[in-house]
Amino acid sequence: KSVKAFAPATVANVSCGFDILGFAIDAMGDEVEVRLKDEPGLVVVSIEGDEGRLPYEVEKNTCAVAIQAMLDEMDSQVGMEIYLKKGLPLGSGMGSSAASAVAALVAANRLLGEPFEKKNLLPFAMAAEKVACGAGHADNVAPSLLGGFVLIRDYHPLDVIKLHVPHGLHCTLLHPHFELKTSDSRSVLRDNVSLKHSTIQSGNVAGLVTGLFQEDFELIGRSLRDVIAEPYRATLIPGFYETKEAVKGAGALGMGISGSGPTMFTLSKGEEKSQAIINAAQQVYDSIGLGVDSY
Ligand code: HSE
Repeated sequence: KSVKAFAPATVANVSCGFDILGFAIDAMGDEVEVRLKDEPGLVVVSIEGDEGRLPYEVEKNTCAVAIQAMLDEMDSQVGMEIYLKKGLPLGSGMGSSAASAVAALVAANRLLGEPFEKKNLLPFAMAAEKVACGAGHADNVAPSLLGGFVLIRDYHPLDVIKLHVPHGLHCTLLHPHFELKTSDSRSVLRDNVSLKHSTIQSGNVAGLVTGLFQEDFELIGRSLRDVIAEPYRATLIPGFYETKEAVKGAGALGMGISGSGPTMFTLSKGEEKSQAIINAAQQVYDSIGLGVDSY
C-alpha cells in the first residue's frame, strides 16, 4: 500500500510577522510517496531533484524526522519507505524543508487511515524544522499544511489562525542565485528588540492583518515593513534595497525577504504587474552580475 502527497512552497514572516505569519504559494512544492513495509522502522529510499545533497539518515532527513515524531506520538512501530521528489530549491527561503516534512506527514497520516486531524500534524512538522534549521518555527509548515495565509498567534500552546486572502492578491518570487541557510540568517538577528521597534512592528502586523480582511491592498503594501529581521538580513542579500525600490516603481505593493532569504517576495494587486516586477528585478541583478529566477 502506498500514498503520495504534495505540499506547497511558502513565504514565511511576510515582512513584519517574524515567525508568526506565512502564506502558501499556489504553484510549486515537493512530493512525497510513502509505502508500508513489513519490518518496523523508516527508510528513505530515494530523493530526486536535490542534486544529491539531502541526507538519507532518518535522524536528519526532514520527511523521516516528521513521520517518526508522528509514530512516536502514536506509540507505533509501523515501518515505512519514503520517496521524496524535490520541486523546491534548497536554502532558498521558500520553505523547502517545510514542504518536504508536510508532504511526508500528510501521506503517512493517510496511509495509516488518518489517525490525526490535519492541524494536529503541525507539531510533528515543527520537530522536523528544528532538525533542518535549528529552530522549530511554524510559519512555513503551518501555511504549507493548511494553505492560504496563516497566523501563529502563540507557540505555547500552539494557536494557529487562518486569515482571509483577498481576491486577486498576487505574489511574485525573486530568487537570486545563491543559498542562505536558515540557521545562518537567524544567527545575524539580535536577541533584543527596542520598545520603539516593537511598537512599529506590532502596528504593521495589525495593519497587514486588517488589510487582508478588508481587502485593502494599499494598507497591505504599507504594512510590509520589518524593523526586526530585515535590516540585518538584507546585508546578506546583494541588491536587496535596489530591488525593493525597483519593484515598487514597477507596481508592487511592497517587497520583503521570503522566510530567511535569499528569495524576495513581492505582493501586487492582480497578476498584471508581475512581468514588470520581474523585469525590474532582472535589471538590478544584471547590473550586479548575479542571476535571478522568478516565479
Ligand atoms: N521565520 C523563519 C525565519 C522562517 O525567518 O527564520 C524561515 O524560513
